Amino acid sequence: MKKRILCVIGTRPEAIKMAPVVLALRKCPWAEVRVLATAQHRQMLDQVLSLFDIVPDYDLDIMQQDQGLTELTSRLLLALDDAFGKASPHVVLAQGDTTTVMTVALACFYRKIPFAHVEAGLRTGDLVNPFPEEMNRVVASRLAVLHFAPTRSARENLLRENIPAGDIHVTGNTVIDALLLTAEKDRDPGVDMDTSRRLVVMTSHRRENFGEPMKEAFSAIRTLVERNDDIWLLYPVHPNPNVTKPAHEILGEHPRIQLVEPLDYAPFVQVMKMAHMIISDSGGIQEEAPALGKPVLVLRDETERPEAVEAGVVKLVGTRKESILREAERLLHDEKAYKKMARGVSPYGDGKAAERIVSILGSCPR
Ligand code: UD1
Ligand code: UDP
Repeated sequence: MKKRILCVIGTRPEAIKMAPVVLALRKCPWAEVRVLATAQHRQMLDQVLSLFDIVPDYDLDIMQQDQGLTELTSRLLLALDDAFGKASPHVVLAQGDTTTVMTVALACFYRKIPFAHVEAGLRTGDLVNPFPEEMNRVVASRLAVLHFAPTRSARENLLRENIPAGDIHVTGNTVIDALLLTAEKDRDPGVDMDTSRRLVVMTSHRRENFGEPMKEAFSAIRTLVERNDDIWLLYPVHPNPNVTKPAHEILGEHPRIQLVEPLDYAPFVQVMKMAHMIISDSGGIQEEAPALGKPVLVLRDETERPEAVEAGVVKLVGTRKESILREAERLLHDEKAYKKMARGVSPYGDGKAAERIVSILGSCPR
């Protein structure tokens, strides 16, 4: 009998990071692979699924505008339980630390279905930072029976929480698989930029930065563009209204600041390749940009991805104006400092993470 494997995907980064696993599972004669989209994200999820040619077998269509965490969690849990009843999987896979992942773990626990966690073991050690992702990670790890840790330090985090060593596998991060598949060829990014200037790419969406911290960071970035007339800022704005409003109020209507809708993954990878540097609070971008040799300034005070910081290619700058301006201008004006951060290292993977995950799933007795 084939093993029925259900891969659950909720948001854009989960789709990017789960796609290589789905593609690899499709090649396995022993696996019957199904995809369930919770659609915690709608448009941003669909963009990625179509790129990788994935049509969900189940679509819960959960997203609502400006969704709150409690209502999102409740709706997800009920809908997942119903879908698991219909799909009756032997094992469920989910990736990362979103509300989708935490509710998948819980719904599996209630139905006694083995849950396997992709990108397991990331921790800041601070339950409210990032919010609510650190809590989601802890719950997912407590309930998972198989843990695919991207790095050795993620494995160590799990061991410290008494997860049995035999249940943890270090695989690398599947984001590098997706990145290598996508970055291979150059393409037109489809964005009309002034390419005579140095490109700075920016993204921002973290809930813990909503309000004053995000406003202060945006205002620092406007000052950065005003003070440096050889840069062009491209900012694909996350559609969360808590982001779009301050983004347009503070960064709008400047001739060298380009606010656009979220880009499809392939064009976004292309603009990362074209960038001089990246300013972001994204998890995935902290993993991808080093592999492309692009320095990243992270708009956060802590990170669950210490490897690139330790390698000196990612720097935490927080959301305070002075620190953002100082570090960004260092990268613009100090060539030596820039070269040190633009080395092209890939601490998160070699592009074969999905292959390893699938081979472990194939040999696992559960
Ligand atoms: C979610 C995850 C976060 C992850 C991020 C990736 C949670 C609690 N948060 O944050 O961990 O890093 O996704 O991007 O799981 N929206 C749209 N269209 C979309 C997507 C979002 O309009 O395609 C808007 C909606 O108004 C929605 C809001 O953004 O209610 C927030 O979406 P949500 O998934 O709750 O939070 P994110 O900030 O996207
Ligand atoms: N990304 C994209 N289009 C954009 C911005 C980002 O495809 O306009 C990709 C990016 O390359 C990375 C992922 O989205 O792979 C990161 O998603 P996000 O920052 O929303 O979530 P996080 O990684 O912080 O959970």
